[in-house]
Amino acid sequence: MTEHRFYGDLAPWWPLLSPVDEYAEEAAFAAALLSGAATLPGGAISPLVDATRLSREATTPAGETAAPARDAAAPARETAAPARETSRRPAGDAAAPACGTATPACGTATPACGTATPAGDAATPASEDAALPDEAAAPPGDVAAQAGDTTRRARDAVTLLELGSGGGHNAVHLKKWFSMTLVDLSAAMLAVSERLNPEVEHRQGDMRDVRLGRVFDAVFVHDAIEYMVTEGDLRRAMVTAFVHTRPGGRAVFVPDATAETFVPETDHGGSDAPDGRGARYLSWSYDPDPGDTTTVTDYAFLLRDADGRVTVAHETHETGLFPRDTWLRLLRETGFRPEAVTEQTTEDRTPRTFFVAHRPG
Ligand SMILES: C[S@@+](CC[C@H](N)C(=O)[O-])C[C@H]1O[C@@H](n2cnc3c(N)ncnc32)[C@H](O)[C@@H]1O
Repeated sequence: MTEHRFYGDLAPWWPLLSPVDEYAEEAAFAAALLSGAATLPGGAISPLVDATRLSREATTPAGETAAPARDAAAPARETAAPARETSRRPAGDAAAPACGTATPACGTATPACGTATPAGDAATPASEDAALPDEAAAPPGDVAAQAGDTTRRARDAVTLLELGSGGGHNAVHLKKWFSMTLVDLSAAMLAVSERLNPEVEHRQGDMRDVRLGRVFDAVFVHDAIEYMVTEGDLRRAMVTAFVHTRPGGRAVFVPDATAETFVPETDHGGSDAPDGRGARYLSWSYDPDPGDTTTVTDYAFLLRDADGRVTVAHETHETGLFPRDTWLRLLRETGFRPEAVTEQTTEDRTPRTFFVAHRPG
């Protein structure tokens, strides 16, 4: 796997390049799917999440509802318009809800558990009613009573493992509702996350083979899943999620795009720190070979130190792109009962497909 400076010596710039606030809406949508609830102790997850609607639409047969579906046929990707501006963050993303579908079958596969490398510790709580069909991930409880009772909150905590947690920008929001464990390949990104989330457990590991030797109520894999560039790697990441999901629990995977929704585009962003530092990026993604399972994103970074000195860095990232049916098939083969839920978002971009994978009880 390619070593990315972005997640290495450039990692300290992550908080400026990809501000945590940009993750809030999408993290709230993910929290609802991870817990199967519209409300968790501490308040509603997101005003955009309508649990009743989620439940109804999630059991309807057939495919996506909101995403502007693209013709999956190869050449379409190339001709589909010149690159466009969006509000995406670097190699990652943002926001909240609409709903889609999928009706799976069951498979099996129960790999063994192994190990990982330590890095930190953990924190928060439970949920209310179940929104999605196969319910178990959401421990019931009196939300109002739990909200003010920290002892009970700790005991009833819903445990969540995030694979590819990066700088912890999802975790900073998700930890309000879950007791989290964060795993990432990069020690430099884990260090950034540990500063932001000192109370959360951090472990260094590869999502394709890390084994923590325990199970969680839910497993979350956000934009880092993009770094699975072959079906084999994607399957390995799914198996890792499966072995860490308790029977009756669920895993949620959020690729930036599927083959049906991918659009070549440019994006830019960044922010400034009070001490004078600042960072900006320009990203440019395209699909050089629509016949394979990868796309390419080039990044240009402008990084300004507190003394005003500016350096430039360029990096190329190869990321995976798979059809929605491939996602659903691989999840079924792994042993999950998957469904595809189309994100509801207020952001000006294509809604993402959230693959919600239920581990049979
Ligand atoms: C875009 S960043 C994730 C940012 C994250 N969503 C956040 O909240 O800050 C992508 C992350 O994927 C991690 N990554 C890439 N391949 C990985 C693998 N095989 N296993 C675990 N993490 C991986 C990188 O180290 C990087 O931190």
